[in-house]
Amino acid sequence: MSPSAPDPINDAIRAMRRSYGEVGLTEGLAGANPLPLFANWLAEAAGNSYVVEANAMVLSTFDGARISSRTVLLKGFDSLEGGCTFFTNYRSAKAQALDSNPELSLLFPWYAMERQVIITARVEKVSRGESEEYFASRPWSSQIGAWASDQSMEIPDRAVLEKRFQEFAARYPEGSAVPLPDNWGGFRALPHTFEFWQGRYSRLHDRIRFAKVSDGTWSRQRLAP
Ligand SMILES: Cc1cc2nc3c(=O)[nH]c(=O)nc-3n(C[C@H](O)[C@H](O)[C@H](O)COP(=O)(O)O)c2cc1C
Repeated sequence: MSPSAPDPINDAIRAMRRSYGEVGLTEGLAGANPLPLFANWLAEAAGNSYVVEANAMVLSTFDGARISSRTVLLKGFDSLEGGCTFFTNYRSAKAQALDSNPELSLLFPWYAMERQVIITARVEKVSRGESEEYFASRPWSSQIGAWASDQSMEIPDRAVLEKRFQEFAARYPEGSAVPLPDNWGGFRALPHTFEFWQGRYSRLHDRIRFAKVSDGTWSRQRLAP
């Protein structure tokens, strides 16, 4: 591209430069255990009207050949072990990657609060009973949607999806109990590390990382921003 050619996208990117805040993450605030800190930050994000979908997290997987990322919703946090539960299709691309390699990362992008949390973890599937309980709590249309969608599979067009929705809606009419599909359920991510990032002035951000030690306690390090 010649230097004088209009380049509105890169002009806009160059203009994006925010100065981050005064309120930091000290060792005293972080404490010795990441679980209460994470629970606090999640609650603060959920209560902040500028944060859209505070429980949305970017889940990255590695299947041995490729890394892939996508957003899923955190549906449960276990404040004793730090387990992060999400629900999905067990035949989806992400589930296949997790079957071959159960290590993952979860990233919470709370930009409106100048915060980010990155978790690394190992997953396990939740019990079928736990998936049934969560599935039963979903709206009927979401339950039918789970039956209708072979998530991550190529489909010829949208009409195919809508036809399948109508077929399952006829099989399980609104108001009836919709069973949990065999290929749908939860995963629980059991964290090895948590990294808390708080934006600060002059790009001197605070980064505090916790790593799980074999005896179940946590070590804490401060990282350069
Ligand atoms: C805000 C948001 C929340 C989402 N939540 C979920 C979720 O909880 N479970 C899920 O399977 N997909 C969810 N998705 C869709 C996924 O990002 C993704 O498209 C889908 O799971 C297929 O991913 P895969 O082909 O990599 O397996 C969400 C997408 C967005 C943007």
